[in-house]
Amino acid sequence: MPVKDLREWIERIDAIGELTRVDGADPRTDIGGLTDLFQWDMGNPALLFDRIAGFPAGYRVLSNVLTSLKRVALSLDLPVDSTPTQLVTAWRDKLEHMRPRPVEPVESGPVLANQLHDTDVDVTKFPAPVWHSGDGGAYIGTGDIVIMRDPDSGWVNAGTYRVQVHDERTLGLYISSGKHGRLIRDKYWQRGRACPVAVSVGHDPLLLLLGGLEVDYGTNEYDVAGGVRNGPLEVVSGPRTGLPIPASAEIAFEGEIPPNELHEEGPFGEWAGYYASGRKPEPIINVQSVLYRDDPIVLGCIPGKPPNDNTFFRSPLRSALIWNELERAGVPGIVGVWSHEAGGGRLMNIVSIHQMYPGHAKQVGAATASCHAGAYANRWVIVVDDDIDPTDTNEVLWALCTRTDVIDDVDVLKRCWSTGLDPMAYGGQSGLYYNNRMIIDACRPFERLKTFPSLARADAQEAAGLRSRWSELFGADGKVRRDGLQVRLRADGLVTEPTPVRH
Ligand SMILES: Cc1cc2nc3c(=O)[nH]c(=O)nc-3n(C[C@H](O)[C@H](O)[C@H](O)COP(=O)(O)O)c2cc1C
Repeated sequence: MPVKDLREWIERIDAIGELTRVDGADPRTDIGGLTDLFQWDMGNPALLFDRIAGFPAGYRVLSNVLTSLKRVALSLDLPVDSTPTQLVTAWRDKLEHMRPRPVEPVESGPVLANQLHDTDVDVTKFPAPVWHSGDGGAYIGTGDIVIMRDPDSGWVNAGTYRVQVHDERTLGLYISSGKHGRLIRDKYWQRGRACPVAVSVGHDPLLLLLGGLEVDYGTNEYDVAGGVRNGPLEVVSGPRTGLPIPASAEIAFEGEIPPNELHEEGPFGEWAGYYASGRKPEPIINVQSVLYRDDPIVLGCIPGKPPNDNTFFRSPLRSALIWNELERAGVPGIVGVWSHEAGGGRLMNIVSIHQMYPGHAKQVGAATASCHAGAYANRWVIVVDDDIDPTDTNEVLWALCTRTDVIDDVDVLKRCWSTGLDPMAYGGQSGLYYNNRMIIDACRPFERLKTFPSLARADAQEAAGLRSRWSELFGADGKVRRDGLQVRLRADGLVTEPTPVRH
């Protein structure tokens, strides 16, 4: 059953033991720090902060949201016990069969319960953490969606871009070049107009997930969310901007981004694990209205050294997108893709193939490094054979170690699409960034496929026979039992019940 809103999402993750509640934390020191510690390892619970120092009880912050596969799967209405590979396949399947569903406008919704307008506006009413101690201020928008309408086509875009609190009525907004929100904003500015904007800072994590993903230009993330949920997203019309705001959003701001008015923004700990883009003048939002539910929840989703909350979900989702794009480009033989979590789901993409012809692996590598889903801020592409699980780091490294010729199998592409957030990007003086990247063919050479040294381990058939004859040594998952056993083969060929060994 798809989740309806953030509160139901919290109940559902609580029910599967993936929520930790913390009372009394300080938003300047503790909330960000604890969130950081929790996201050092993936699979830790989400954090729900209440009774936050300086704020009324009930004004909450939820963080470390999408750092477990179960929570990513739940958000996408996919089976929660999926392995990484199953998640990639299930998301590909969903993308193929799902049709976007237009939003359902409604007159009223929980987000309209409380409203502040004009001089009553005060965004500091809500807890906005300083997420990392090196950050240049408090950020209320990290797991947000920033909603804008294209002035020409009427298309509504909802993208996730960071939002800093400057004062009671002013927010800072950082959008990288080429992002849809920036393209829309620039259209208003080119006409000398301020850009109307709405920002939701708490909502169903599915909206965050889609807001943070490269949904096609001209496609509304809300409609895709409707497709994923198999039912339309209910939206209310923002009283100041008329922009569609999720009816069950926790907190939303409306306002305008004026042209030619900038404010120092950042620094902010970023997804590649550094403070690479520093502190610079960036656009602001003049906030004209604040809408919020009773007992509102700020949704935090912070970057940091990857994998982190900002990037972990990208690995399965980007892998699916790359796989689809390779197939759409007519590249055959793809059996697996993994956008590695250590590279923030962008910097390292691994593709596993069934080699079909000479040059196939190089073709896959070049296409992966250049297709839309794989091109931005990539550094490494590794192509491996179909016996290598691309999600298994040891297998990939083993292929690199034993199947790569470091002269013939390595190619470098220069001056590729990157960002100032990539610490090894160059050319930033003009605000234009490039990087260099490497494509590694870690497959067995095509002409040696039949003669390449054979594998020094039991093959699948042999392993299955041993597991069945000596089943007592293995658990239900087929893995070796580690509880210290003794078994004996009897004369009748059966194995005795295992007995724990006493020391
Ligand atoms: C938690 C989170 C924070 C992000 N922060 C920013 C940001 O501050 N600026 C930015 O340009 N992109 C940011 N991104 C990446 C964009 O959300 C992503 O590229 C998305 O595709 C942009 O939407 P768009 O394609 O509609 O422009 C962030 C992503 C996530 C998940």
